[in-house]
Amino acid sequence: MTTQLSVSGIELELFRYPSRQESNLQAWDAADEHLIKHLVDTEQAPTNTLIVNDNFGALTAGLLSINPDWPLTLETDAKTSLLGTTQNLSRNQLSADSLTWVNSRDELPQGIQLVLMKLPKNLNYFSHQLKRLSQVLPAGTQVFIGAKAKSINKSLLETISRNLGAASASLTWKKTRVITCITDGKPRALPTTIDWSVPEFNLKISNLSNVFAANKLDIGARIMLDNMPKGEFKSIVDLGCGNGILGLHAKQCFPDAYIHFIDDSEMAVTSAKANWALNKLDNPELVGQQATFAWDDCLTNMNEGFRPDLILCNPPFHQGEAITDHIAWQMFLDAFRRLKNGGILHVVGNRHLAYHVKLKRIFKNCTTVESNGKFVILQAQKISKKAQELEQSSATSAPHPQSALYGAAKR
Ligand SMILES: C[S@@+](CC[C@H](N)C(=O)[O-])C[C@H]1O[C@@H](n2cnc3c(N)ncnc32)[C@H](O)[C@@H]1O
Repeated sequence: MTTQLSVSGIELELFRYPSRQESNLQAWDAADEHLIKHLVDTEQAPTNTLIVNDNFGALTAGLLSINPDWPLTLETDAKTSLLGTTQNLSRNQLSADSLTWVNSRDELPQGIQLVLMKLPKNLNYFSHQLKRLSQVLPAGTQVFIGAKAKSINKSLLETISRNLGAASASLTWKKTRVITCITDGKPRALPTTIDWSVPEFNLKISNLSNVFAANKLDIGARIMLDNMPKGEFKSIVDLGCGNGILGLHAKQCFPDAYIHFIDDSEMAVTSAKANWALNKLDNPELVGQQATFAWDDCLTNMNEGFRPDLILCNPPFHQGEAITDHIAWQMFLDAFRRLKNGGILHVVGNRHLAYHVKLKRIFKNCTTVESNGKFVILQAQKISKKAQELEQSSATSAPHPQSALYGAAKR
């Protein structure tokens, strides 16, 4: 795996997040290099700059290498991007002092004079981000958008013009182009949520633009809804919750359970929270907070003492544009580490991903609960001597309030 970025005299060592991931994927791409080169070639002065969708901090570290005092605001929806950028800055001895972080729902600050942006995979989300920019950028502001040349076409340029201002693309360099948009200063209304229901389960779902399967129920999730595990579960984690569909149905099946929703996407966590409220799932017979919501990388910040008895998981098989199974690996390892002894990981996946091989390696057991031509539901149970010892020393399976669930980062 290459970790040395070298462009226009800037040298950086960059890792993806988490840095120990089992993949050969790079932490940046040629579109990042193109954007940095473009700024250097045009001798851009360090003005108030907003960086949007900087995967693991290549753009941020690049600008801070040009000038350590470059005033920067960073917008991201992904916790792994925030953690990866922070890690890469410190690895390159760059200070994060001049940085302001915002998520994709926070109000953007006034006074931005330049925007650097990476084209995200999800184009509805991209339109949403452009509309957000239109609300704060004065006419004539330059917005540079880096993307693979093959992703840039007439319709994309029209989307940018419609939502922010006139746009044109540079010549191709390393199979990427930089789009320059000059804002027209007209604020656009933000999009509303995308709403649908699952009538057979009496669930209403509302999604923000960057939520997985925002437009309709995912087929993997559908099979999970039809095949919830059997048992007495009191503390359930919806790991990679998206809009929360699995955790919401788990509460319908196990009304005495406390449900913990976790996702890398801030918009997903916010949607899951909204959907919990929308579906009025609180059991009046229970005390305390019956659902918690965490913007996190897998179970990184869940307190060691918290031991769920069921983890539901429909793992992602890509990170940004890259197809990878390392997040599934990380989710399974975290699940094994955190489940109480005897606890169950209930997973859905595409058959060809062969998750059973991973689960067998980690849990030493794996059963097929259901399968059809395309998907399979697998279950692994945490049973180990070591787990029993761990259980005795530190764990409790009782439900915890949010404050007890999350603490300092462990990874
Ligand atoms: C296949 S989707 C499943 C969403 C939802 N559970 C469903 O079944 O519709 C996978 C989810 O994992 C989330 N995810 C990706 N990387 C993650 C990470 N490192 N930690 C937590 N969640 C992550 C994604 O944002 C996405 O919402």
